[in-house]
Formats: sequence, C-alpha cells, structure tokens
Amino acid sequence: MNTIELIQILPKAELHLHIEGTFEPELMFEIAKRNGIDLPHDSVESLKDTYEFENLQEFLDIYYQGVNVLQTEQDFYDLTWAYLQRAKADNVVHTEIMYDPQSHTERGIDFEIAINGIHRALSDAQSQLGISSFLILSLLRHLSEEECLATLEQAKAHMDKFDAIGLDSSELGNPPEKFINLYAMADEMKLLKVAHAGEEGPAEYVWSAIDQLNIDRIDHGNRCLEDDKLVDYIIKKDLTLTVCPLSNLKLCVVDDLKQHPIKVMLDKGLNATVNSDDPAYFGGYVNDNFNAITEALELSEQDIVQLVKNSFTGSFLPESHIQEHLKAIDKILA
Ligand code: HPA
Ligand code: ZN
Repeated sequence: MNTIELIQILPKAELHLHIEGTFEPELMFEIAKRNGIDLPHDSVESLKDTYEFENLQEFLDIYYQGVNVLQTEQDFYDLTWAYLQRAKADNVVHTEIMYDPQSHTERGIDFEIAINGIHRALSDAQSQLGISSFLILSLLRHLSEEECLATLEQAKAHMDKFDAIGLDSSELGNPPEKFINLYAMADEMKLLKVAHAGEEGPAEYVWSAIDQLNIDRIDHGNRCLEDDKLVDYIIKKDLTLTVCPLSNLKLCVVDDLKQHPIKVMLDKGLNATVNSDDPAYFGGYVNDNFNAITEALELSEQDIVQLVKNSFTGSFLPESHIQEHLKAIDKILA
C-alpha cells in the first residue's frame, strides 16, 4: 500500500474546519441565484482567481463576502451537507466544525437560521453517513468582548446544538486576554473551549490562550515553536494542536510546504493533527492536506498513523469512543 492509499483507507477525525470556509464557488453561485443575489464575479473561474492571499486578513475579506450569500436555513443545511459528503469521501468519521454566528447576525440573519440549518445537516450525517460531530460556536475576535458576550447569551437557548466555543478572525491586535470574561462565561455554561492562537500571532498569544482563557485545544499554534518553554508546557498540559498545512501555505504562514513545521512538532512530542481549515479557499480537504505534507516532508507511514491517531485522541469524544476508533485503525493496519 502506498501512502496515498494509506491516507485514504484510515478513518480520521477533523478538528479544525470552518463551515463557511467549505463554501465552494459552484454552490455559492447556485445559492446566490436562488436568493436573487448578484455576485461581483461573472463566473466560478473569475471568483476563484481572487483566491490569492498574502495574509490572513486578505483571506478574511473575501471569506466574509462569500458568507453574505447565505440567507435561509436551507442554505446553511446545503452548505453543511456538501461538506459532510466531501468529508465522507475522505473517510472522516468524526468532525468538530466551527461556524461564525456573528458573521450572520451582523448582517441581519436571525441567530436561529444558521444554527438550525447546520444542526439538521449534522444530525442527518450521523444517521445517513455515520459521521459523528460536535459544533463549535466561534466568536469573531475583531469584535468587542461585549458583542461576543451578547452572542453567547443568545446561544443559551440552543445549548442542545453546540458543544464548545472558539475564537477566530483577525488575530494580530486581538489577543486572547481581550476575551477573559467570555471564556469565563463559557466555563459557567460547561462548554469546551478552543481558540485560534499562534497562526499569525506570537507565542505570547498561545501562552495567554492557555493560561488566561484556559483552552482545551489550540487551533493552529504554529508559532509555539519559537518558545521552547511553551512547547514543554503544551506537552505537559497534553493540549492538541489543530494544524492546517494548506491553509498555512495559502496564507503565507509558511513560504513552502517543505518548511512546514508539522514534522518538527511530532518529533518534539506535540499532539499535532492535520485539518483543512477553509478547504474551498485553500485548495484541498483533509486528505489533500495529508497528501501534500506527506510528499513535501517525506512523512513515514508511522508519522501518518500518528497524525491520524492524534485526530481522535485530540477530539472531544468520550474516552470509550476514542478507544474504539484507535482499535479500528489498528485493525486496518494489521
Ligand atoms: N483563521 C482565523 N479566522 C478564520 C480562519 C482562519 O484560518 N478561517 C475562518 N476564520
Ligand atoms: Zn481556522
């Protein structure tokens, strides 16, 4: 079996995925048409031509434009269902997806619309595709803490539909400590907690996400490698990093996949995982990410198996489910 076949055959979990970032141009045009929205591009190709980014903010500006097309509960269902089918093709059996409630409520879409559409697709994925999932309500860090607190307050009526909070959008200038009260409120609500940290932001942001927000998992975390004490601390705390190789390449977090730090992370003993982040914009879903780093970094079969196992041990699944998934992997390998 070659590595491409190995990557395909292994069941895996995806832990870092923005559902709005799975909005493929073809579906965007289809939904825009049915909603009577004029896109500023006349073809899928000319839209795709704009997907060249020098940094996170250039991407976010385009990503928020795409989001505007989503209007109805069915739109959110269709978006989520398309991702889940694509994930199924990559043998994803569990996914923990983020969505940005504020990028919808801020433009006048009721809170219920997005969460109900996404939730319905996730329920159908469990029954029809055998994919389990958790939903992470991700707050926009370029907004004020007061606005994020108000959104979390609104979310209280939907506690049955989500499991964790996250923090995304423009990292530089919006450090974790801006959101201490928000994460304290999440604690009171017994939610799990993740945050993007160390994608563009410095190692200090990873420290404060851990110590001041008390997060259960780190989204990206690349820049922790600039601080040996921090690396030791992350290992001691047994925190998983949700690493996104093609995203890092597209957003110029790394210049070349051959310099991608994921192999270094593994060698240092960090629980790194492979994820697709915003696959419609970054050129690939989770298996594409695995294949790209396997080629660029000449990963061994053992590295690949470790990364796939980390996706389960780093998930928020109950321990018994994690053990079942790990056993299933060992059985396939045997
Ligand atoms: N980084 C930060 N915020 C985001 C991203 C990302 O890659 N995708 C969607 N929101
Ligand atoms: Zn992300």
